[in-house]
Amino acid sequence: MIKQRENFGSRFAVIAAMAGSAVGLGNIWRFPFVLGEYGGAAFILVYMMASLVLALPIFYAESIIGRRSRCDTFGAMKKLAPGTAWRWAGLLTIVSPLLILSYYSVVGGWSVEYLFKSLSFSFTEVPAEKIPDFFGRFISSPWQPIFAHTAFMLIVAGIVLAGVSNGIELFSKLAMPALLVLILVIVGYSLTLPGSMKGVEYLLKPDFSRLTPQAYAAAVGQAFFSLSLGVGTILTYSSYVKKDENLMVSGLGTAVSDLVFAVISAFAVMPAVFAAGLQPGAGPGLVFETLPYIFNKMGEGLPMLSTLISSVFFAAILAAALTSAISMLEVGVAFLTDEKGMKRRSATLLLAFLCWVVGVLCSLSFGSLSRIKVLGLSFFDFLDHLCSDWLLPLGGLIFTLFVGWKMSKADVRDEFTNGGTRNVRIFGAVYFLMRYVAPVGIVVIFLTNLFL
Ligand code: PFF
Repeated sequence: MIKQRENFGSRFAVIAAMAGSAVGLGNIWRFPFVLGEYGGAAFILVYMMASLVLALPIFYAESIIGRRSRCDTFGAMKKLAPGTAWRWAGLLTIVSPLLILSYYSVVGGWSVEYLFKSLSFSFTEVPAEKIPDFFGRFISSPWQPIFAHTAFMLIVAGIVLAGVSNGIELFSKLAMPALLVLILVIVGYSLTLPGSMKGVEYLLKPDFSRLTPQAYAAAVGQAFFSLSLGVGTILTYSSYVKKDENLMVSGLGTAVSDLVFAVISAFAVMPAVFAAGLQPGAGPGLVFETLPYIFNKMGEGLPMLSTLISSVFFAAILAAALTSAISMLEVGVAFLTDEKGMKRRSATLLLAFLCWVVGVLCSLSFGSLSRIKVLGLSFFDFLDHLCSDWLLPLGGLIFTLFVGWKMSKADVRDEFTNGGTRNVRIFGAVYFLMRYVAPVGIVVIFLTNLFL
């Protein structure tokens, strides 16, 4: 039974909420270290191509299903393909964002902890050399990361409880512009450091010899994660988009914002890394180990400045992580309220609690549960690989096959062109990308993940 749905109030609200979901730890934490591993500028170019040619058509596929049905992902498939097994595919895409939220919240908790540490001068009281060790000790300790994870999850649940317009829309409209300003402050600081120009060169001068097949697969995987694709978030948010909104513009706005934030984050991180004489390919610890070290080192004798800059940086990461995390929780909440008739409050609390429990296991997998392995990986790494290498692309494949091969072309055109009034000329190209290019691209990614 479908109830009266809430809507996003304006185009800015739509783009802020969708870009809020897209821009997150994937941009500020993941993108800089992945590009550091695959060689800088050339990777950025491949990433841009992957976002626009492969990811954007899948984004449109999700938007078309969401707005056409005005339902959660399970209900959408049930409504648009009644009596078929497609709804079970829809159900899968409700489980994956909840799995992602479970470990994402642990990393979100790290940013809560690092913000507190920055504000309480903890990074300036110790010699810079000790800071990278601090990260290892923190994530492997039993209680601190769980408290931080709990705090993060409580904030996420609080925002989702407030509803679509008073919670998600309001928070995203405030957080996204603030995030842009915070990141630009860090870019400004980073570029003034002596030696930072080597980092700028690294980001602008492509070295194509570093582009291996793995680099292409990593670029596509990053584009999926970063645009929140294949997990029903874009579908669910699109179900709150009004009928006269131009889907092409809101999708493009989101993809471009996501790209811009990723590139700006790289310009915030890499020049500082080069200025400090550190390695760009330091891996996932790049942001949490390297940046507090850099802020401390550069601010020696100036603890206030150092504290201010690192607090701004971790506040930015926290804001970005929150706007993404709420979108993950909203997918399941929409399902339980739409399909099971649950109250928003009970649905939010139930799902947040389940994700919290799984998150506790993820957090402990860095410490007391580190000996327990799933397919040779820690529980945290297992969930991360399961989701980003398999479930996200699988969800993307489901949505693009549904739009390209199950829905009638007339319905797809009607939705994308707002009844033949907008985007009519580019529809053919978008449809071709959704029907052929995107599914083939995803299958290639599966094969690369399987064999490389
Ligand atoms: N796009 C988010 C990021 O870049 O951090 C991650 C994400 C959000 C993944 C929402 C999946 C999702 F459903």
